[in-house]
Amino acid sequence: MVQETHLSAANLIFPLFIIDGNNQRTEVASMPGIYRNSVDNLLREIESCLKLGLKSFDLFPNLEEAIKDKYATESYRDGSLYLNAISEVKRHFPEAIVITDVAMDPYSSDGHDGIVEDGHILNDETLEVLGKMALAHAQSGADIIAPSDMMDGRVGYIRQVLDDNGFTGVSIMSYTAKYASAFYGPFRDALNSAPKFGDKKTYQMNPANQREALIEADLDEAEGADFLMVKPALAYLDVIKLLKDNTDLPIAAYNVSGEYAMVKAAIQKGWLNEERAITEILTSIRRAGATAILTYHAKEVLENGWI
Ligand code: PBG
Repeated sequence: MVQETHLSAANLIFPLFIIDGNNQRTEVASMPGIYRNSVDNLLREIESCLKLGLKSFDLFPNLEEAIKDKYATESYRDGSLYLNAISEVKRHFPEAIVITDVAMDPYSSDGHDGIVEDGHILNDETLEVLGKMALAHAQSGADIIAPSDMMDGRVGYIRQVLDDNGFTGVSIMSYTAKYASAFYGPFRDALNSAPKFGDKKTYQMNPANQREALIEADLDEAEGADFLMVKPALAYLDVIKLLKDNTDLPIAAYNVSGEYAMVKAAIQKGWLNEERAITEILTSIRRAGATAILTYHAKEVLENGWI
C-alpha cells in the first residue's frame, strides 16, 4: 500500500546488438546472455520481447573494420546493415518503439564519436555527419533518435534537420549527462568500437562533476530534447535525482554494459542472489527519478517473472 516505486515493462528499454549475415548469433564474452544478432534473428528476438510486454528497443550495429572510415559514411549509406535493420523491425512490428543511436564510433576508423583531426575532435564538423545519420534513421522508420556522441549543439542541429525534412513527430532522447566512464568496456567489445587512441574525456563528462550536468540539461532542453538521459546509471544516481528535480522532461537512465557485467560475474560465482540483486538495482534507478531505464536485464526480468 505504501510502496513508492514500481517497476514495469513499460519503463524498460532493451539495447540490442546487430551483426551482418544470416542466422548469426554470437554471445558477447563479457556480457553473458547478451548476443549480437543478424537481422533475421533480431526480428525473432523482438517478437519474443513483444510477447513479454517489452516494446522499446535501442539498436546498435557491429561493423567490420573494413567498412569504417574517418567520416563514418557507412552511418547514412542507403541499404546499410543498420538502416535495413530499422526498416525491417518497423515493417514487421509497427507497434515496437525503435530508438536509434546517433554517434560516429561504430562506423569510425578512429573509434571516436566525432571526426578526428590531428588528435582533436572537430565538434561542429561532426554535427553535419550526425544530422545525416539522424535523418537516415528517421527515413528508415525510427521513432526516437538518441544522440550518444556528446558533441555540443547536436540536439538543436538534429531537431532542425528532422523538422526541415518533415519528421516533426520523431523524438530526441538526448544523452545529456554522459560520463567518460570505465563501465562502457563490455559494450565496446560487443561493437568492436573502442577508440584507436586517446580517450573520450574531451567530449564526455568528468565523473567528478555533478553540477555540470545541469548546464548540459539546460542546453538540451532549450535545443528541443524530449528526454534527458543520464549514463551510466548506478554510479550516478545522484545525477539522475538532480536532473529529475530540475526539469519536467522525462528522465532516462542507461544501466550500462559494465554494470551488467559486474552483476553477472558475481552471480556466476554464486556471490549474489540474481533476482534480488537485479530488481533492487532497477528499482533504485527508478527511485532516483528515471522514468525509463535502458538495461540489458530488460528481457530476463520479464521472462523470469521478477517484475
Ligand atoms: C557510444 C556509446 C557507448 C555506449 C552507448 N553508446 C560507449 C561509449 O561512449 O564509448 C555505452 C553503452 C554501454 O556501455 O552499455 N556512442
